[in-house]
Amino acid sequence: MKLWGGRFTKEENQLVHNFNESLSFDCRFYRQDIEGSIAHVTMLEKQGIVSEEDRDAIIAGLEGILADLESKKLEFTAEHEDIHSFVEANLTERIGEAGKRLHTGRSRNDQVALDMKLYCRDEIGELDGLVRALLGEILKLMEENLDTYMPGFTHLQKAQPVTLAHHLGAYFEMFYRDLGRLCDIKKRMNACPLGAGALAGTTYPLDREYSARLLGFDGPTFNSMDSVSDRDYVIELLSALSTIAMHLSRFSEEVIIWNSNEYRFVELDDAYSTGSSIMPQKKNPDIAELVRGKTGRVYGALVAILTTMKGLPLAYNKDMQEDKELTFDAIDTVKGCLALFTGMISTMAFRKDVMEASAKNGFTNATDAADYLVNHGVPFRDAHGIVGQLVLHCLDKDIALDDMTLEEFQAVSPVFEEDIYEAISMKSCVQRRVTQGAPGQEAMRQAIAACHRRLEQ
Ligand code: ARG
Repeated sequence: MKLWGGRFTKEENQLVHNFNESLSFDCRFYRQDIEGSIAHVTMLEKQGIVSEEDRDAIIAGLEGILADLESKKLEFTAEHEDIHSFVEANLTERIGEAGKRLHTGRSRNDQVALDMKLYCRDEIGELDGLVRALLGEILKLMEENLDTYMPGFTHLQKAQPVTLAHHLGAYFEMFYRDLGRLCDIKKRMNACPLGAGALAGTTYPLDREYSARLLGFDGPTFNSMDSVSDRDYVIELLSALSTIAMHLSRFSEEVIIWNSNEYRFVELDDAYSTGSSIMPQKKNPDIAELVRGKTGRVYGALVAILTTMKGLPLAYNKDMQEDKELTFDAIDTVKGCLALFTGMISTMAFRKDVMEASAKNGFTNATDAADYLVNHGVPFRDAHGIVGQLVLHCLDKDIALDDMTLEEFQAVSPVFEEDIYEAISMKSCVQRRVTQGAPGQEAMRQAIAACHRRLEQ
């Protein structure tokens, strides 16, 4: 049954129906569609556009549909074009004539714009919770690992020693910015398109301010043509989701590397790894790999919607129906990744001894040896050269800087004294780095306290 059958003489071709329909996916926001209709009819009655009896009958009918859908007593049937037609047809079936008054002063164009906004807003709330749970887990791990030493890398080559707390702190910052992006989108998108009609508003005396407030918006949208054709918030959401996916993917990549036989920095919990069908020894980081791999489809959704929107003249065009499946998939994907990733890192064991040993034998204290010379009056460029010679010497003997005798040090530069060992010990290398944002304990404690404050805000 078509809402627009009046003007048409031929039956719709089945292939055309299948190609055009959206019920198979927009059925997902039936709750939001019903919520929007209840607000709309409440406003219509307040404005004297429908009677009190009709309003009550419509609301009772809509609530009945909602309850029956939730309890699966009512199922979506394919003859309806979209969720809007489905609900309206059902309503009229239930309550008769009054049901036909619901759509007064409304078009499916402002209706779908509203439903999609309400849906995205609800999902942003869920995503916010999942990102917060991940941040909480990272913060807990940071607190537990203030003196877990590990190599910090540049170019995936050992660079300078850091702590696991510090390394994880970098991810805290990334996901914290993601949280901020979600909040920003919610703020910017929170204007209600209801009442924009098909594109040019309506002749009925609607109170748009009132329906906007009923639905928790800050107010109505400003321009009716923009209201029905704006999908910027979908693009912003997909962009924020892409950034979250990118951060999860980078972290996953590290977990995969850390879990490799060569690194052995972490041991994944059995529940988050899988075996091989042929190689009995294998324990693979499939979850981390899937999180990394799924990034592609989230980016895909963003590029697809950007491309769909780029050629659209004002106002509504059916192309915009394409926003839904992509967005739903990206939201589901990122929610799944966030939940699984949080579970994976909270059950993963860190091999602190392996991490510390790795930091010790990669010359991660070479910069500190050079700094020692500088503190004794040697120009930095010369110090850099001297320590370079020491490294060559150690490579030749397959030892660490700390393993050299004082005589060996002094053979390269007489400036070295007994206190060089203290100066280049792992502990002092890390703990002397106390500038804000550095890995030293004191700086890290302050950083962690600030993380707590920022999360509570
Ligand atoms: N299913 C449509 C969409 O997702 C709903 C709006 C239909 N409006 C129209 N004029 N055909 O965009």
